Amino acid sequence: MKMLTATLTMWTVSLSLAMAAGQPSLERGKELFYSTALGTNGKSCASCHAGGNKLEEAAGYDQKQFEVIVNQCIVKALNGRAFAPGSPDLSSLVAYVKTLTPVATK
Ligand code: HEC
Repeated sequence: MKMLTATLTMWTVSLSLAMAAGQPSLERGKELFYSTALGTNGKSCASCHAGGNKLEEAAGYDQKQFEVIVNQCIVKALNGRAFAPGSPDLSSLVAYVKTLTPVATK
């Protein structure tokens, strides 16, 4: 419980710091997840992954694997252009997707 509180506090602090500096944010990630502007075929991530659908195995991925896979879905599933690795938008999207994967949220 102490651990959880500490984690949540750190998370909240880094989240507000991030927002203050115009850095990656969950809010931006959510916006991207529902945006059809990422691709060219009228779909968004939510078209296929609403509520964490088909994201069950993603919880075990590290940040780098996550970025690669998210970019793959942007390119292959949305006919869009991949984000630069480590870019604020990609980090935001990955952070939001992580909140939808059951194991990663614990
Ligand atoms: C047209 C449908 C479609 C769209 C749109 C789509 N995906 Fe996917 N995505 C898939 C499929 C299919 C898989 C493979 C799932 C599997 O192997 O169980 C997948 C896999 C993934 C995985 C790995 C999940 C796992 O459990 O291994 C992640 C993360 C992911 N997508 C994120 C995204 C994000 C972020 C977007 C928006 C940029 C997106 N996807 C858009 C169909 C889609």
